Amino acid sequence: MVSRSDKSEKRGASYSQLEDGTQASRPILHQKSPEIQPYGKIAKLPIALDEKVCAASAENLNQLLADTMTLRDLYKKHHWQVAGHTFYQLHLLFDKHYSEQNELVDSIAERVQSLGAISLAMAADVAETTLIPRPPRGREEVPVQISRLLEAHELVLKEARTMARQAAEQGDDGTNDLLVSDVIRTNELQVWFLAEHAVDEPLVRAEHAKAASSGR
Ligand SMILES: [Fe+2]
Repeated sequence: MVSRSDKSEKRGASYSQLEDGTQASRPILHQKSPEIQPYGKIAKLPIALDEKVCAASAENLNQLLADTMTLRDLYKKHHWQVAGHTFYQLHLLFDKHYSEQNELVDSIAERVQSLGAISLAMAADVAETTLIPRPPRGREEVPVQISRLLEAHELVLKEARTMARQAAEQGDDGTNDLLVSDVIRTNELQVWFLAEHAVDEPLVRAEHAKAASSGR
């Protein structure tokens, strides 16, 4: 008769047989080491651009990255918190702009990496770097949400134009192109779509019709 302890020994043996030969495939966990490239340092790539030019562009782009990430997240906040009779259209518009800003975030960050630098990534670092004022956690009225977004766009546009000129002067055409073709054009278009919501238009009856019917 096979005893209970014999059975468990057998089971143990078969488990270890299952693991035989898997040593090389085992994940190595809890690894730590110092960073291989500190933030702010350039690991030069063969892109025919001077290291100093790369460093200057990367520094500018990281500021723009922090502000673009903040603007992107402001759109998501407002996408969630918008209220009132324009809820549905603004809910959708805010999310569309969020997605477009998210694409810009990736393009800016990858431009920084292409210059041999390190892009900002984590929320805490972004919060320390951005120049866009921190909004309250709670819900704000729609006109305040729109004003806040418009002011953030203007800050981004102002710095992007200055950075584009600096990149052009230094011969960094790739950065200049990203700033002009993607960042500036996208932000300008979004400002138009937003700003039209801040025009004080009557909802149902035209003001002139109201004045005419009251005999004024
Ligand atoms: Fe959503």
